[in-house]
Amino acid sequence: MIALVTGAAGFIGSHLCEHLLAAGDEVRGVDAFTDYYARGQKEEHISGLLGRPGLAFVEGDLNTMPLLPVLDGVQVVYHLAGQPGVRPSWGSDFELYVHRNVLATQRLLEACRLGPHPKVVYASSSSVYGDAASHPTPESATPRPISPYGVTKLAGEHLCEVYRLTFGVPTASLRLFTVYGPRQRPDMAFSRLIACAVEGRAFELYGDGEQTRDFTFVGDVVAAMRNAAMSEWVGVANIGGGVRVSMNEVVSVVGSMCGHLDVVRLPSADGDVRHTGADTRVAAAAFGYRPATTLAKGLRAMVDAMSRNVELT
Ligand code: NAD
Ligand code: UGA
Repeated sequence: MIALVTGAAGFIGSHLCEHLLAAGDEVRGVDAFTDYYARGQKEEHISGLLGRPGLAFVEGDLNTMPLLPVLDGVQVVYHLAGQPGVRPSWGSDFELYVHRNVLATQRLLEACRLGPHPKVVYASSSSVYGDAASHPTPESATPRPISPYGVTKLAGEHLCEVYRLTFGVPTASLRLFTVYGPRQRPDMAFSRLIACAVEGRAFELYGDGEQTRDFTFVGDVVAAMRNAAMSEWVGVANIGGGVRVSMNEVVSVVGSMCGHLDVVRLPSADGDVRHTGADTRVAAAAFGYRPATTLAKGLRAMVDAMSRNVELT
């Protein structure tokens, strides 16, 4: 299988490249090293993979680079490149979200339809639901994002559907639910929590801590992406971890794993949904999805990886 991974130097993208190489796929990785977080951290993500047989990596921006050459011979495109982050998507930064999540996705899909019609697996988001009426939420629920980020991820998903229905580009949009694990982005809750615990700083908790998330381990996510790509299935499916947990519970688990954790309470953040929960029956039926990593096991892997990093520095 020849695969193109966009956003290959990112958190999920770098795990996906590793997973595909281990499965024997030929991988082309593209990343623009955007400044959402430190370039050095992204270089570290990809540096462990550079030089591995089967991987070719190029620095490039999907909004400007010639796309047909990198798509030549490609059978699957895993489209993860984008501007992530729910809370910073207000104000003038929205332009970046439109540019990187909507315009880049349309440009890529256009190249796919003119080029080899590869299967496209798009990293959509639980944020498309907004405050859903019920949990676990099925894909049939009407999406009503409550953040500008969620609006752009939903637009990307609709573009995938439009290119599938109009031009026959086979697209599969996976709505990923709050992904965690080693190398998680530094703006996300778990990486901040563990960094605070390890370095003895107070964690800033937004709201009353009773918001819940269906946290999903990155290993389960990348396995799901490849299984979706290898199947005949197209459409939209949820990918969740299987259990809803409150931030207060997570704070307590990380505190006991690390020995101690102080918390400062701040007001809740605009754009944050109250609860997420994935009904994963579509993914289970379509490509055998079943999350395999419990929160305790996944958090332990993350705490160990981050503690090792602190010891090394
Ligand atoms: P990340 O920021 O670590 O990775 C995204 C990568 O895309 C970055 O390395 C960035 O440099 C690159 N990029 C951005 N715009 C680009 C462009 N125009 N051309 C080339 N490269 C570009 O984020 P992540 O957490 O790994 O998320 C990956 C994808 O999954 C994103 O699309 C995000 O919206 C989606 N997603 C993430 C989560 C989560 O919990 N992390 C959940 C749902 C969906
Ligand atoms: C995450 C990702 O950041 C998005 O890219 C992704 O699209 C989304 O999941 C998704 O599932 O679709 P989020 O659920 O906000 O978004 O994930 P975290 O940043 O890990 O936040 C989880 C909870 O912790 C939120 O309620 C947030 O307000 C809270 N939080 C986060 C804090 O209390 N303090 C922090 O410093 C960071």
